[in-house]
Amino acid sequence: MDPRPIGVFDSGIGGLSAVRALRRLLPEEPILYLGDTARMPYGCRPAGEIDAFTGQITAWLLRRGVKALIAACGTISCNAPSLQRLPVPCFDVVSAAAEAAARRSVCGRIGLAATEATVRSGRFARAITRQTGQPVVNAACPLLAPMIEQGVTAEDPRLAAAVAEYCRPFLENHVDTVVLGCTHYPLIAGAFAAVLGPSVTLIDCAAETAAAAAAALGQARLLSAEGSPAGAFWFTAAPPPAALQTATRLLGQDIGSRLSLLPLAELTGGDPHES
Ligand code: DGL
Repeated sequence: MDPRPIGVFDSGIGGLSAVRALRRLLPEEPILYLGDTARMPYGCRPAGEIDAFTGQITAWLLRRGVKALIAACGTISCNAPSLQRLPVPCFDVVSAAAEAAARRSVCGRIGLAATEATVRSGRFARAITRQTGQPVVNAACPLLAPMIEQGVTAEDPRLAAAVAEYCRPFLENHVDTVVLGCTHYPLIAGAFAAVLGPSVTLIDCAAETAAAAAAALGQARLLSAEGSPAGAFWFTAAPPPAALQTATRLLGQDIGSRLSLLPLAELTGGDPHES
């Protein structure tokens, strides 16, 4: 049994979708969350920059003694080779989601909704194609994560219109499964479901990854058996109040009292160019 926390990180509040799933599966696990809200969005950044930011985040979480890491971000998962060189088990959101999509799809035609950097990397699509042998229908959705980060909800007509536009290639290509390949998107899954209808299965990459991580950590005897901790939530900039409401709805807990601000300089080691 290992009482150290699991470190979960994202560019912003999207990775809380992984925290929600982890909490359901492993309610006794302490979770240390870091959202790099000051530098969000990551999805429009070059891969080298995403990898550099990821190195700073994982170094900070490791200094705080995490026993495992979950890169609860499709963009980081696809653009940060430094995740392969960590001293603790690290789970990204690609393989578990790709496997789940292939398992659930009947016709093998699968869509991927993700950020520009995730689509550009090709990593997620390749992982799905390895399972199905078929090409993936990609849709880069650059407006969504920043809108969700501002607290815009699935019911907002501006967000619904953006989702409808991004889903056009999925409808035109008759996919039967769509991977929500950005961890912000499960927060607006209703908007995708409304456009795609009940015949299209949505895969929540954060929930699939949380399940895979829970199973692997259990096998490695790295789980904790103590209490039901409230978790600690760190952000490099204060999320807007509407985003905190989204987080509260998602987790069923007001994280306001557990929220701390991490000055970016502490993450970057004071390098003024790192922003
Ligand atoms: N949650 C991130 C992802 O899964 C967000 C993207 C961003 O910062 O642009 O890709």
